[in-house]
Amino acid sequence: MKVFVTRKIPESGINLLKDHHTVTVSKKDKVLSKTEIIDQAQDAEGLLCLLTDTIDSEVISSLPNLKMIANYAVGFNNVDVKVATQKKIPVSNTPEVLTDTTAELAWALVFSVARRIVESDSFCRDGKFEGWGPMLMLGQDVTKKTLGIIGAGRIGTAMALKSKGFNMNILYVDPEHNSVLESKLNAKKTDLTTLLSTSDIVSLHVPLTDDTYHLIGEKELDSMKETAVLINTSRGPIINENALIKALENNQIFGAGLDVYEQEPKIPKRLKQLNNAVILPHIGSATRETRSKMADMAAENMIQGLNGKQPSNCVNPEVFE
Ligand code: DGY
Repeated sequence: MKVFVTRKIPESGINLLKDHHTVTVSKKDKVLSKTEIIDQAQDAEGLLCLLTDTIDSEVISSLPNLKMIANYAVGFNNVDVKVATQKKIPVSNTPEVLTDTTAELAWALVFSVARRIVESDSFCRDGKFEGWGPMLMLGQDVTKKTLGIIGAGRIGTAMALKSKGFNMNILYVDPEHNSVLESKLNAKKTDLTTLLSTSDIVSLHVPLTDDTYHLIGEKELDSMKETAVLINTSRGPIINENALIKALENNQIFGAGLDVYEQEPKIPKRLKQLNNAVILPHIGSATRETRSKMADMAAENMIQGLNGKQPSNCVNPEVFE
């Protein structure tokens, strides 16, 4: 069968697919528009797409042969899964393989913000370092502080577990009790209001849904500590970006570490001007090992799906009921 891959991904995944199917990889190493996807995947049975591709009702309905969508990401808010399910098209994602990598990046952001690493680096490069100073670049301690995890799924849990060496109090908000966090870290399940008002570091790990859109807005930012650090490695629209910029400009919180944005890849000029924001280009899963594992996983899911089997990481298993 024919598989269209919307952008170059690590070779191992492509080779795996080529063992079973005829594979075309987009030649343009940039995000494709919906029209380009529809045009280039027109006769494809399999679509291997990225989190930057909009695979909505129009795209799905315009691909007459489509039998399988393998998303190269754990988040799949870019795919209209409801429409795919109605059309009996399985959709898969790439969980687990990127969990530790993304949690590591969340920690990199914690320290970058709390200890003003990026700002200090620029300070040195700009020739401003004139010697040790008792009041120079004062940040926030992390050890023994309270870490608030919003969304204690795979990545939220991994982030919390990695706090062990820092002897932190762990709070979490999640619909379910997390027995791993409770038994290993004595973590406490709480509500959003309590978590926000008592945490020193707040890290977001929820998927983007109608319920989590703008979960953190003006009211929530107002309730955070003046010394708090907010980390987002999940999806941009979970934070009301305008409200966050205002809060950072007014030093209502200590700082924010962001890997994702509301109108990605657009980053507001006002956000770029802030020293108390560390901004990254959505690199949560960006290590060589993890991106290769994601490619292999997406390819394996594609092969299973095109074989008429339920892919191992199917997000709409009801297609097979
Ligand atoms: C994902 O897989 O959803 C991540 O955001 C990729 O970095």
